[in-house]
Amino acid sequence: MTSPPAPPAEPPVIEIRGPLNRFGDQIVHENLDLDVYRGEILGVVGGSGTGKSVLMRSIIGLQRPQAGEITVFGEPMLDRDPEDPALLAIRKRWGILFQNGALFSTLTVSENVQVPLREYYPDMPAHLREEIAAYKILMTGLSENAGPKYPSELSGGMRKRAGLASAPPRSTSRPGSCRGRSASPSSSSRMISIRCTPSAIASPCSPIAR
Ligand SMILES: Nc1ncnc2c1ncn2[C@@H]1O[C@H](COP(=O)(O)OP(=O)(O)OP(=O)(O)O)[C@@H](O)[C@H]1O
Ligand SMILES: [Mg+2]
Repeated sequence: MTSPPAPPAEPPVIEIRGPLNRFGDQIVHENLDLDVYRGEILGVVGGSGTGKSVLMRSIIGLQRPQAGEITVFGEPMLDRDPEDPALLAIRKRWGILFQNGALFSTLTVSENVQVPLREYYPDMPAHLREEIAAYKILMTGLSENAGPKYPSELSGGMRKRAGLASAPPRSTSRPGSCRGRSASPSSSSRMISIRCTPSAIASPCSPIAR
């Protein structure tokens, strides 16, 4: 028998403590505790409508749980002024790929990719922004020809990749990577499941793989 893994020395990057997400009579999350550590790759699985997106939205502040606590990089995320500089600093450190790509339909792929660069680095010269956008587009596996196309001119898979390229810039550490070194030696994968019960769509999540 192998002994259980030692607890990570560093505090979690994401700490979730009992967020209550309720829509009318429907309780989506309650009694849910979860820690995500630096270098971890976490998958959340569950049937359609069981609360995966609501959980992600709660972490990034697009959904305000009625109770509980969520902390990212040590900063509490709930009940914060959206313009709080500390919160804006945290936002610069994460990247988000939305389920439908969340691309602006009137902007080309390249222009979409440049949106977060414009927002976070307003002083960046246009030529550098365009160069970074072209690089990010290639990194997702799209060809450079995709840059001038509009979202309506893309296939579903291409739209997904364009959404990935448009995810905001990430500057330093994040759960999926280690600063200045390869993520693979210390990274671990974990899967949690969100289950369905009649009264609580998502009940306490439990690790099903480590
Ligand atoms: N703004 C909202 N108002 C009312 N109900 C909502 C709202 N957002 C989500 N829900 C409900 O919360 C539940 C969880 O939705 P969520 O989007 O998290 O599902 P999901 O697990 O991401 O599903 P899928 O795999 O289909 O993307 C669903 O029953 C959904 O109808
Ligand atoms: Mg979803």
